[in-house]
Amino acid sequence: MAKDLSFTCSECGAVHSKWSGRCDACGAWNTIVEDRPLAAGPAAKSLGARRGAAVHLTDLATQEAEPPRTLSGVTELDRVLGGGLVQASALLVGGDPGIGKSTLLLQAAARFARNGIKVIYVSGEESAAQVQMRARRLGLEKSPVRLAAETNLRDILTTLETEKPDLAIIDSIQTMWADHVEAAPGSVAQVRACAHELTQFAKRRTMAVVMVGHVTKEGTLAGPRVVEHMVDTVLYFEGERGHQFRILRAVKNRFGPADEIGVFEMTGRGLAEVKNPSALFLSERGKPAPGSVVFAGIEGTRPMLCEIQALVALSPLGTPRRSVVGWDGGRLAMILAVLESRCGVAFTGLDVYLNVAGGLRISEPAADLAVAAALVSAREDATIPPDCVVFGEISLSGALRPVVQAENRLKEAQKLGFTTAIVPHQPKPGAASGLTLRALQDLPGFVNEVFGPR
Ligand code: TYD
Ligand code: MG
Repeated sequence: MAKDLSFTCSECGAVHSKWSGRCDACGAWNTIVEDRPLAAGPAAKSLGARRGAAVHLTDLATQEAEPPRTLSGVTELDRVLGGGLVQASALLVGGDPGIGKSTLLLQAAARFARNGIKVIYVSGEESAAQVQMRARRLGLEKSPVRLAAETNLRDILTTLETEKPDLAIIDSIQTMWADHVEAAPGSVAQVRACAHELTQFAKRRTMAVVMVGHVTKEGTLAGPRVVEHMVDTVLYFEGERGHQFRILRAVKNRFGPADEIGVFEMTGRGLAEVKNPSALFLSERGKPAPGSVVFAGIEGTRPMLCEIQALVALSPLGTPRRSVVGWDGGRLAMILAVLESRCGVAFTGLDVYLNVAGGLRISEPAADLAVAAALVSAREDATIPPDCVVFGEISLSGALRPVVQAENRLKEAQKLGFTTAIVPHQPKPGAASGLTLRALQDLPGFVNEVFGPR
């Protein structure tokens, strides 16, 4: 009956009484889908009409056993997973087309298979021959991974039920098609239904399911947000085109820390692990130049040094350009404002370009001071010594705030041959005894000390 129907926006969850193309609540297009009642038939009208089974209750003290995990042997992947793949879990791996998702998962599948895990790889995008060709190129053709090129979810689930693999890889969720949903593959309703079926199946059959998801131009996973809520782990595979570095980032992980990253390099023979990313990110550094600063960052649990580059040029435009790659544009505006009002370093009439070298994306406020240093260095045409690392958060007052894991940052800098660090406050003695530390209170003090009084 029509009045039993309701419509839910798959982006924001708002409930509407009728369908429309655009959700009034969040403004998203084509996200409103019909909600089916829990069960069909008159008895389902109200939940009170039929008694459910009693739910098992427990207490907070009883410990569930840790879910069993399997290591792939790819250290970068195992770390991002929080210590290996968890049985009966659902993962989503998102990334731009062509970034290397299929390559990563085929390589991972082969490694898991080599460790005695039964793996089925289902490709909905490529033919079996295409996947086999890639496997040959990667030197994996002898690996016992079972392969299928299929998009019909019902057939896939039946196959998984008979084959009983430990791990199934579905490449991609946007190409899958469940015949009980009347919508085209890739549509919100299909993606949601397929992801739901696969997730439920994984839990029921104690199998791990990895779904590949495409990313829209805005950088979010195409299809409904609810898929991200459904699965246990969401990983993003990122990188800049033209750079060979690829970063696998955990944005959600029910079984481990989020924000952990794994670094890979795309080579002619697939993805290679990068054991020492700092060295790699700094390897492309040219000779010392104004606007270049090394930031001692932390990604997840790992220290990572990278170069921040700034360029400042006279603007021909009425409103000067502010262009950022690898960092937050709003945060750049804030630092420019603090430099102008607290330190008297103005950027009026100047175009500002900021770039994190190597295609890395930084979200830590700890990079504030390194960004400010790069900006002032570019503007004053003064070079920061190349053996110096910088980190620290800047507050609106211009004060420098301490950041987490200062010791780990310093140790990594020392390991890579840096001799000086500019930091917000004096860390505990002995943290990195080989480094000369310059601890500074505020941004004006920093500008004075490094670039001379103005
Ligand atoms: P792919 O895994 O197909 O990307 P996705 O599944 O995310 O769309 O990767 C495709 C790109 O990777 C393609 O541009 C070629 C490149 N590549 C290599 O450079 N080396 C390799 O060994 C392989 C297999 C791919
Ligand atoms: Mg692919």
